[in-house]
Amino acid sequence: MLATATIADLLATVVQNRPLTSDVNILTIECPAIAAAAKPGNFVNIKVSDTTQPLLRRPFSIHNVEGDCIELMVKSVGKGSSLFCNSPVGARVMVLGPLGNSFSASGNFETALLVSGGIGTAPMRFLEKALLAEGKKVINLIGGRSQKELLALNLSNCRFATDDGSAGFKGTVVELLHSELAGFGEAESLKVFACGPNPMLKALAGFCREHRLACDLSLESVMGCGIGICYGCSVELRNPDGTIQPILLCKEGPVIQAERIAL
Ligand SMILES: Cc1cc2nc3c(=O)[nH]c(=O)nc-3n(C[C@H](O)[C@H](O)[C@H](O)COP(=O)(O)OP(=O)(O)OC[C@H]3O[C@@H](n4cnc5c(N)ncnc54)[C@H](O)[C@@H]3O)c2cc1C
Ligand code: FES
Repeated sequence: MLATATIADLLATVVQNRPLTSDVNILTIECPAIAAAAKPGNFVNIKVSDTTQPLLRRPFSIHNVEGDCIELMVKSVGKGSSLFCNSPVGARVMVLGPLGNSFSASGNFETALLVSGGIGTAPMRFLEKALLAEGKKVINLIGGRSQKELLALNLSNCRFATDDGSAGFKGTVVELLHSELAGFGEAESLKVFACGPNPMLKALAGFCREHRLACDLSLESVMGCGIGICYGCSVELRNPDGTIQPILLCKEGPVIQAERIAL
């Protein structure tokens, strides 16, 4: 997991806005400096403005990088994300990034299990590309409450879990992971990468600890500045000696090793 070296705060243009579902859009933003420096797991802090609303900055994972552009997968949940989601092509937004640390696509494992829930699939496209470039095998395990919440744009080898059984495995994505593990031989080395709601990530961290699986999780917290100034993103992690330590997730995360999650 590497910290980001070069951070820019740029006025950038929305060059494409594609609806993916009724409340999730893919926004393409031209910002060459951020696209060039971005790594899978990094996020950007976006300030959207219009004439009637106050300025807002909100964090979004980098979904993909294509040339001079970054792509963001944005779900409308409240005022800031809805305003951003509905940005017309040509809209100008402030983009601060790339922020945070990153997933490491290299390392001593053969198969990457990408476990995501809901909008947590957002960083997986960029991560999958990096893993495939490293010669790793990739399997996506994707969870949602029902079929219409499953997001799998441009992801390969997808297996699904839904709470209501409307698609794929009926149950949580952690239970799906459990059922999939039986298909791997003893000798196959695995690593789990995950992003999703914090309760899902806590359950996954416990599961991976129990099954001795290496696992990196991208956590969420409310973030104001994204650069260690406001102290709004403090979360408690466990040190190897068992003591609990608060960290700023925007600086030391959002990617955290599962064994550091205080259960
Ligand atoms: C590192 C990181 C990466 C993220 N990546 C994505 C992504 O790729 N796509 C995506 O759709 N969403 C992502 N989110 C969540 C997204 O930032 C929030 O949904 C958004 O900030 C909500 O703003 P709002 O004004 O629409 O909602 P509000 O009306 O302010 O609140 C709605 C909900 O969002 C939560 N929330 C509010 N502000 C924040 C904030 N600054 N950070 C986190 N949660 C907040 C509130 O607790 C509440 O539950 C990410 C969050 C973090 C921390
Ligand atoms: S978001 Fe401000 S300190 Fe982390």
